[in-house]
Amino acid sequence: MKIVVATDKPFAKVALDGIRKEIEAAGYELVLLEKYGEKARLLEAVQDADAIIIRSDVIDAEVLDAAKQLKIVVRAGAGYDNVDLEAATAHNVCVMNTPGQNSNAVAELAFGLMVMAVRNMYNGTSGTELKGKKLGIHAFGNVGRNVARIAKGFGMDIYAFDAFCPKEVIESEGVTAVASAEELYATCDVVSLHIPATAETKNSINAALVGRMPKGAVLVNTARKEVINETELIQLMEERTELKYVTDIMPAANETFAAKFAGRYFSTPKKMGAQTAEANINAGIAAAKQIVGFLKDGCERFRVNKKA
Ligand code: 3PG
Repeated sequence: MKIVVATDKPFAKVALDGIRKEIEAAGYELVLLEKYGEKARLLEAVQDADAIIIRSDVIDAEVLDAAKQLKIVVRAGAGYDNVDLEAATAHNVCVMNTPGQNSNAVAELAFGLMVMAVRNMYNGTSGTELKGKKLGIHAFGNVGRNVARIAKGFGMDIYAFDAFCPKEVIESEGVTAVASAEELYATCDVVSLHIPATAETKNSINAALVGRMPKGAVLVNTARKEVINETELIQLMEERTELKYVTDIMPAANETFAAKFAGRYFSTPKKMGAQTAEANINAGIAAAKQIVGFLKDGCERFRVNKKA
C-alpha cells in the first residue's frame, strides 16, 4: 500500500518522522510530496496512491480521477472545505479529518493576533489591554473552546455564539452563551472567528454584523478568508476608522486592505495557525493512524463524506 503525504505547506520534520513510523510499522510505503506548487505534480504523485494525507491541499474531481487506486484521504486538520466531498463519494473514496488535533495552536495564534491589534501593531504608542474586555467567540468548536480557556487567563469577559452547540455546553465552560451572531457582535470588543467555510457561512461576516461592534473593536480571523464579505468589510473600515482587522488567512483583497488600513490591518503571509511542531505531530500522526485503522480494520471514525 502506498501512502502519499501531499503537503504544499510541509509538516515539521519531527511530525513527519512520527507519520513515517506509523505507516512503515503497518507495512506500508510512505511517499512524500512537499511544496509541490503546481497541481500537475500532485496529479502525478497520486497516480498509484492508496491513501493521501493532506493539509489545506485541494482534492477535487481531477485529483480523484488521477488517483485510480485511492481509498482514503485524511485532512490532517479540522476544515475540509478543500476537499470535494461529493466527488470523493462518487469515486468511492473515504474522507476524514482529525478534529481537535491542531486546535490549541490555532487558538494561541488568535491571541497573538489579538495582542498585536490592541497594542497598535507594536508601533510604540499606548494601546489597550485584553483584561476586562468582552471577547466574542463565533462558533464554539474545538478551537473556540481553547480560545475560551486561554481568555480566562487574560481575565476577559467571555461570550460565545454557536447555532449548533447547546447553551448549557457553552455555559458549563464559564462562557456566556448569546442567542444570535448579531447579539455577539453588538456586545463584544473583540470577536474571534471559528466558523467553517460552508455554503451558509461564506460571505456571512458582513457590514451588517461587524458594523454592530462597539468603537475600537477588533475582528480576528483564524478561520477562513471565504467567510468574510471583503467588499463590505473594506467599506465599513473606510467609514469606521477605529475598526481593526487581523487575520491569519490573507484576504483576496490583501493589497487593498494593506494600502487603505495601515496600522489597523494585519495578515500573516501564509496561514500559520496550525503551524507548530505540536499541532503537526498531533494532526499528522492521527491522520496516519486513521489511515492504518481504515485500511486494516475498516474503521471509519471521523469520516466526513457520505458513502457511495
Ligand atoms: C485547519 O482547518 O485544520 C486549519 O485551518 C489548519 O490548516 P493547515 O493545516 O493548512 O495549516
